[in-house]
Amino acid sequence: MQLYLRDALHDDIEQLVALVLGGKLTIDEDDQLFLDDYADALDEIDSTDGSYLLVAELGGRIVGMLQLITFRHFQHRGGRCAEIESMHVIDDERGRGIGGRLLGYAVSRAKDLGCYRIQLTSNANRADAHRFYEAHEFEHTHNGYKRYLDLDWTPTRSASRRRPADGRVPV
Ligand SMILES: CC(C)(COP(=O)(O)OP(=O)(O)OC[C@H]1O[C@@H](n2cnc3c(N)ncnc32)[C@H](O)[C@@H]1OP(=O)(O)O)[C@@H](O)C(=O)NCCC(=O)NCCS
Repeated sequence: MQLYLRDALHDDIEQLVALVLGGKLTIDEDDQLFLDDYADALDEIDSTDGSYLLVAELGGRIVGMLQLITFRHFQHRGGRCAEIESMHVIDDERGRGIGGRLLGYAVSRAKDLGCYRIQLTSNANRADAHRFYEAHEFEHTHNGYKRYLDLDWTPTRSASRRRPADGRVPV
């Protein structure tokens, strides 16, 4: 079967959500709102410069995904930098080279966009994933820190532009 690598489409959303949730989700009507939130996220990803959701398709089935985010860095002469998030290959297709090809596709897209660096974080417990990234020339140079924010987050709310100058906060 031919493997295809491409940008995600709206028709992929149900399969992508199942992939993100480890294939454990059975999607029924109650999940419609949930799917709408993912659809909204995909719209925003698609309409944001340098931002992509990439998928691997095999025999009409979505078997892998990753999110590629690129941004201008306020260092390296304002160069463009790339970041990978949400990398998953469906469990029954792991270890067959799909993840490697998808990662290579993201790296070449980042190069096409003029990125000087591509980076990611990976859960400290995922030793297999670390081996995978290191086999693809990613070096373990930094330790990552994450802090979950206890926010009443509204998924459909887009991020706004920078605050105006008079929006400074006295502290
Ligand atoms: C990590 C992952 C994306 C790699 O995709 P893949 O298609 O399995 O990778 P490839 O077939 O191209 O490469 C195989 C290599 O990936 C690594 N690997 C990681 N998890 C694996 C798994 N469950 N099965 C097989 N290989 C795995 C191994 O290092 C393997 O190399 P090896 O044969 O020398 O052991 C995929 O296994 C996956 O989705 N894992 C679960 C989710 C995850 O960890 N995502 C990364 C979050 S940072």
